[in-house]
Amino acid sequence: MPKTSKITSATNMSRRALLGAAGLGAAGLGAASLGVVGATSALADDRHHGRPMPPAPTRPEVAFYGRSQAGIANPPPAHLQFAAIDITITSRAALIGLLRDLTQGAARLTSALPVGKTGAVNGPAAVAPEDTGEALNLPTAGLTITFGFGPELFTSKSNGDRFGLANMQPAGLQQFPNFKGDELVAGRIGGDICIQACADDAQVAMHSVRNLMRIAGSRAKVRWTQAGFNRAASLNNVTTTPRNLFGFRDGTNNLNTNDRAAMDEFVWAKSSDGAAWMDGGSYLAVRQIRMLISDWDDSVLKEQADVFGRTKSGGAPLSGGTEFTAPDFSKLSADGKWAIAPDSHVALAHPQNNGGVRILRRAFNYANSDEASGAADVGLFFMSYQRDLNRQFVALQCQLSESDLLNEYIRHTASAAFAVPPGTSPGGYIGETLLA
Ligand code: HEM
Repeated sequence: MPKTSKITSATNMSRRALLGAAGLGAAGLGAASLGVVGATSALADDRHHGRPMPPAPTRPEVAFYGRSQAGIANPPPAHLQFAAIDITITSRAALIGLLRDLTQGAARLTSALPVGKTGAVNGPAAVAPEDTGEALNLPTAGLTITFGFGPELFTSKSNGDRFGLANMQPAGLQQFPNFKGDELVAGRIGGDICIQACADDAQVAMHSVRNLMRIAGSRAKVRWTQAGFNRAASLNNVTTTPRNLFGFRDGTNNLNTNDRAAMDEFVWAKSSDGAAWMDGGSYLAVRQIRMLISDWDDSVLKEQADVFGRTKSGGAPLSGGTEFTAPDFSKLSADGKWAIAPDSHVALAHPQNNGGVRILRRAFNYANSDEASGAADVGLFFMSYQRDLNRQFVALQCQLSESDLLNEYIRHTASAAFAVPPGTSPGGYIGETLLA
């Protein structure tokens, strides 16, 4: 058995450990794998009076197991890989088997372990490797993998109640109604299960979804996918609020995930909400929103600020103060008009004007090419977590879709709703509270 144990021990080593074993420390990784690090290091050396500084720490490993799934409350990293997938198996036992395999795969991936028993390079030469290999030697980059269940997993016109789950469907988990102005693209709506992979390295995020789909094999197929990005804050120790592709700070008045009372009130589902199996989970709203950047880029700075109700420079409300000053919607400007237009994005979305609704936004920018027109298809891959989709996301989006000044510059093109079940512990699987 010595051969097998050698294989097992090699594949159980984390990518980081393999890196160390190969004689490449973290400094080597930073310089070798990130094109920009050379320039950053020169700057860092200069600031340190010529002495080399220790390499910037990479985002630490995020625990996969826990009461709630990771990828909701922890700060969003620089990259997203999102997939909405359809399940092709039909028995409940097979669904449990699939979720067990996906859970085990995700637990390994988030620990930077290659998937399968033999990983990327330790299997027999005559067999396709279990792991595709592009994340070998990369750290976890703070990878989180979050699974959600769409309404059609429970019941659908084409598949009926295939898994015997119809009576477990949370009342509020439905495909969203058509909102005014929606231009949804066929094929980019819904999905039986979603996989949200977030990491500071696009290759790590992409590797995880690709390998989870290989684990699923013929048991699932991709319905639609999207990659997203934010600025690479971790590379430069940037702590300012990220900017969206309209150039505005986006996230200023987002829910503070360290505020436990607010997270309990607005994000985490409770058994008393109706679906007991969702206790400790949350509900995810996904909207891909194309941003008409040519029109926007030609609009004048004042118009841009008026659309949001905030300044472009620092994100302060137009009623005055700095970024985190509370907006004053009753303030008039010198010309007698409202300082913050009542139909500006912030006025309509602020809890003061929407009956107290709050959501946890977790959005990423995206950039695709539109093959049909050749034009850029760029925008915001909007995701929000909330305790109740109807009372929070749907209510907000109804209000925004009616009169938001921003609507002139955006188009909603993809849409999906998911129940994101609670987390699990070693030996368990995501979805066990629903299926056990
Ligand atoms: C491309 C589409 C969108 C863009 C560019 C955008 C951008 C922004 C910006 C710049 C702010 C102000 C800064 C901040 O507090 O984060 C903001 C606030 C906000 N947005 Fe959006 N947003 C978009 C879509 C949406 C959608 C679809 C929703 C929900 C249905 C939404 C909900 C909110 C909320 C709740 C706030 C905070 C308002 C407050 O309390 O002051 N946004 N958004």
